[in-house]
Parts: sequence; C-alpha cells; structure tokens
Amino acid sequence: MKGISLYIHIPFCKSKCSYCNFVSYTNCEKFFDKYINSLIKEIKIRSKECKNCEIKTIYVGGGTPSILPLGSISKIVNSIKKSFLVVENAEITVEANPNSLTLEKAIEWQKCGVNRVSVGLQASNKKLLKILKRPHNYKDFENAICFLKKAGIYNISADIMIGLPKQNWFDVRKTLKKVFKNYVTHISAYGLILEENTPLFDEVKKGKYKMPSDNKSVMIYKKTCKKLEKNGFLQYEISNFSQKGFESKHNLNYWNRGEFIGFGVGAFSFFDGVHWENTEQLNQYLKNPNNKLNIEKETLDSAKKEFIMLSLRTTKGLNIFEYTKRFKTHFIKDYEKQILKLLKNRSIVVFDGYVKVLKPEILNLIIQEFF
Ligand SMILES: C[S@@+](CC[C@H](N)C(=O)[O-])C[C@H]1O[C@@H](n2cnc3c(N)ncnc32)[C@H](O)[C@@H]1O
Ligand code: SF4
Repeated sequence: MKGISLYIHIPFCKSKCSYCNFVSYTNCEKFFDKYINSLIKEIKIRSKECKNCEIKTIYVGGGTPSILPLGSISKIVNSIKKSFLVVENAEITVEANPNSLTLEKAIEWQKCGVNRVSVGLQASNKKLLKILKRPHNYKDFENAICFLKKAGIYNISADIMIGLPKQNWFDVRKTLKKVFKNYVTHISAYGLILEENTPLFDEVKKGKYKMPSDNKSVMIYKKTCKKLEKNGFLQYEISNFSQKGFESKHNLNYWNRGEFIGFGVGAFSFFDGVHWENTEQLNQYLKNPNNKLNIEKETLDSAKKEFIMLSLRTTKGLNIFEYTKRFKTHFIKDYEKQILKLLKNRSIVVFDGYVKVLKPEILNLIIQEFF
C-alpha cells in the first residue's frame, strides 16, 4: 500500500478578493449541488485507478469550502471514505472563510472526521481588509474559531498576509497578537503576490496603492518570523509556522514530492510519475468531471528540479542523501558551480547532510540558480 494525499477544490466564493487569482466563481449557488455530484463521480472514477493506495491526508480547499450549505462537506468526505481506503488517523483539513463558517457546519465537519480547519483572516485591520476586499472583519474570525472549538476541532490554522500596500510592521504585530489570543496551532504568513489580472494589480498600476519596497517587505517578513518563533510557532517552511507536532501533513507530503490526486475544477495531480490538471471551466467540469488535461510524464530532469524547488522551501532543507537515493547521483556533483556561488555569497549552507537556505527573502532567486 502506498500513502497518498487527496485535494478537493471548491471553486466558489461569496465575492472576489482584490488580490486573488485562484480558480473561483461568484454567484454560482445554483451549481452547488451539481458540482458536488460531479466531484463524487470523479472520486469514484479515480479510486479505480489507485487500488493499492491508502489516503493519509485529505484537504478541501478553495475558493471557499465553508460557503457550501450544511451537509455538503460530509457528503464529499463520506464519498471519499466509501471509494478509498482512508487511514484511521488521516489528517482531514477544510478551508474556511470567517464569515461563512457556522457552528452547525463546524459540528457537521467534526462528525464526518474533519480534524483540522484553516481559517483565512489575512489582517485584523479594517482598512487593510477593505483594500483586500475581504467580506469579513476580525470579530467574524474570533467567532469562527469559537465555533470550531465548541464543535471539538482544536487543530486550527490561521492565514495572514504580509507585504500589503499601506501595511506596516505594527499592523502585522497587531494581527499576530490577535491571532495568538485565539490559541491556534498553525499560522501561514503569505507574502502578497501581486497577480496580473486582479483588481489590486490594476489599482497599483494606476497609482491608487503603492507596494512596499523590497527592504520594507524583508524587514516585515523577518520580524514576523521572529515574533512567531517567540510565541512558540516554529517555522517549517518559508511561509508556514506551527506549534510542535502541528505541521500540516498534507503540505509536507506536497513539499516532499509525495503523490496526490486533485478533484474538482482546476485541481492538479501527481500520481505514478505523471502530472495532470483538471479543466478550469466550471461548465466543462460539470459536463464531464473525468477530463485530465496537460498530462505529462515526469523526466529525470523535471523530477530533480521539482525536488530542489520544493525541498529548499522547507526549513529542514534539501536532504542530500535523499537526493542520491532518488536520483542515483550526487547533489553536490550535479550542481557544484551553483553551490559554490551560493555558499560564497552566504545564501545557503551545507550542514549535517542538508542544504539550507540562509536568505529566505531571496528564495526564488536561489532556486533559479539551479534551473
Ligand atoms: C486561495 S485562499 C483559500 C482560502 C479562503 N478562501 C481564504 O481566502 O481565506 C488560501 C490562501 O491563499 C492566500 N492567497 C491567495 N491569493 C494570494 C496572493 N495573491 N498572494 C499571497 N497569498 C495569497 C491567502 O492567504 C488565502 O488565505
Ligand atoms: S475568499 Fe479566498 S479563494 Fe475566494 S477570492 Fe478571496 S482569497 Fe480567493
């Protein structure tokens, strides 16, 4: 039996946030039932292709899974349990927005086996939430955490964002303080990626908002890491921090290049050495939930590059022994020139069988050296 992860994409949101280019549609309530039925069809079809697998983690993400009506998440989770062999202690995560999570939904989720919830706060400051066009306030976040705990879900992650226009370190510090007050087990602190074709991108282009300078972003990132560490949240990936033992198993599988199957609109998969993705078009998916696009078999070169890219994101770093085991060649020999250059400018360190990034603020540049 091999252990794999499952990802289920819920491509619906109440409204679109100004910075987001994830696959999600608004005003689509009339498609909710049909979408869940299509997901169940896809789950059944795919389960026949992976007979010798056991499911270690399930992640229902979005979009906004909590927007679905009562009973929807358990319908999806139960259909997975019917079609796949889900291990007893599987990590089952659902993403929630603070304004659409109710106590009834939290109870329903807990009953069907959901044991981890990730709640998107992004910022506690009203003005910043307005710039981001988030349809909630900090109080909604506090209520959502309360509902989860009342329902018996204690493994809770909070998403916050840094590097926002008009955001300074004191805003981030306030947000962190408020998140700490809610006793969550995990915090993701994402640096804003200004995506083209988003309203925020246009607003920045037109001069309505200014992005923080690189220096300011790095300063805020470093202070965020320090503050989190001081409050018991250990960094295990560039943007992810958790109390000891509460790392996201689902994401760790992804960063270790473990296999995963994605269901739903726009979901990605990597299974048996093959990558594929689902259509991003909702109507196409509803018509035929069994359509794999861009099927690509991994090559030795693509596998090596992915391994480097994903493992350098983690705090542990790239395991040199694991690289040799997987690719039958030595990492230092393969990339001697690049390693020497990065060692010289103190961007990485080689220690105890691991290659670790010393300057996470320029991670993308470091990774580019190997490509
Ligand atoms: C795609 S959302 C789904 C969860 C939920 N809908 C929410 O917004 O809280 C997952 C997380 O991705 C992050 N995210 C989305 N767009 C981003 C961007 N352009 N830059 C950085 N982080 C982003 C946000 O922190 C968000 O919580
Ligand atoms: S709620 Fe989440 S998924 Fe939906 S638009 Fe906002 S950031 Fe994107």
